[in-house]
Amino acid sequence: MENLLVTGGAGFIGVNFIRYLLTETGFKGRVINVDKLTYAGNPESLEGIDKRFSDRYEFIKADICDREKLARVFDEHDVDSVCNFAAESHVDRSIVSAEDFIKTNILGTYTLLELARERADRIRLFHHISTDEVFGDLDAGGYSAEDAPYRPNSPYSASKASSNHLVRAYYKTYGLPVTISNCSNNYGPFQFPEKLIPLMLLNALEGKPLPVYGDGMNVRDWLYVHDHCAAVKTILDKESVGETYNIGGGNEITNIRVVEMICDILDEILGRLPDGKSRRDLITLVADRPGHDRRYAIDWRKINSELGWRPSESFESGLRKTIDWYLNNKTWVDRVRSSEYRRWINMHYG
Ligand code: NAD
Ligand code: DAU
Repeated sequence: MENLLVTGGAGFIGVNFIRYLLTETGFKGRVINVDKLTYAGNPESLEGIDKRFSDRYEFIKADICDREKLARVFDEHDVDSVCNFAAESHVDRSIVSAEDFIKTNILGTYTLLELARERADRIRLFHHISTDEVFGDLDAGGYSAEDAPYRPNSPYSASKASSNHLVRAYYKTYGLPVTISNCSNNYGPFQFPEKLIPLMLLNALEGKPLPVYGDGMNVRDWLYVHDHCAAVKTILDKESVGETYNIGGGNEITNIRVVEMICDILDEILGRLPDGKSRRDLITLVADRPGHDRRYAIDWRKINSELGWRPSESFESGLRKTIDWYLNNKTWVDRVRSSEYRRWINMHYG
């Protein structure tokens, strides 16, 4: 890989991946980061990287659905590999309006696949980042392996399932060298504060209610984002064309327990709330998410046995690191939440 196109590299996992790739691995190539800068994209999350790696890192604001612009990116940068993180990623938003999910997640992936297919002589690998949500709801005790049937239940997961099918079809039909990974719930630095962990953490800091959906007994498998980045790098290095890998943390935890842990760690670090109450008292059960999947649990034995990857962070240690990061990066939080800053980004990046 000499010229790696990373899409969605200004979002949560993309930022962590680019930082990891350039600073912690022996990667010697160039990274071309293409991102549309939706509400979830923040180029400042890569501050420092752009300067330190100015000869090997470039940011380009573009929509992955924009075929002409992306064709220029592929050709001008001699792209030989693609790692497709770009997506609309939040389930609740997909329930309110699915349109952007269909456009970016399905048509955007299709556009990238077409551009790669047209340059088949140059493309070494097209890696597509996906989710365990494509497998849908699981009963207690069941685990989804790579060949489990797809049963997506939200517009978001249906759009990701669709994109996975397209990627697979381009391998089977055109021989495009693809790989796919389906990962469980990520958490860590730079996550937009609409997702469970940063939202609860920031609300708990501010003494606001902690809205847990339904009875709070839904289960997710949590993976520290750095471990996800390492798994993706392992897949890129191996270039096992046509393979799909599940990536999980082995941390199946109910939502209510996750929120209680956040409250307890904050009480321990900062002391109780000014009125003497524990932050746990802020937990409020609210109306459930429509179509809310009860449990996800991913079987990641394949990436472990074939590529030797395994997560290194426990949930407790990863959560403490995450909480520390948010406590020490209030400016980042304020900026990503501010509409003024969004307007500035739009003006600055055109
Ligand atoms: P995110 O929402 O934080 O970031 C997505 C990024 O994609 C943003 O920077 C956004 O500006 C960009 N983007 C959106 N539409 C675009 C378009 N049309 N063209 C170019 N860029 C566009 O998401 P994330 O949590 O970092 O997720 C990244 C990928 O990982 C997604 O494909 C998601 O489905 C997948 N995934 C996420 C998780 C998780 O827990 N967050 C778990 C498994 C898989
Ligand atoms: O499983 C992988 C998926 O994980 C990724 O594909 C998605 O991009 C990512 O957003 C995430 O999806 P979830 O829906 O699981 O994440 P979210 O943080 O939105 O919610 C986690 C759980 O917490 C879920 O059961 C819903 C619940 N929840 C969420 C929010 C935002 C609450 O109870 N209250 C909340 O306010």
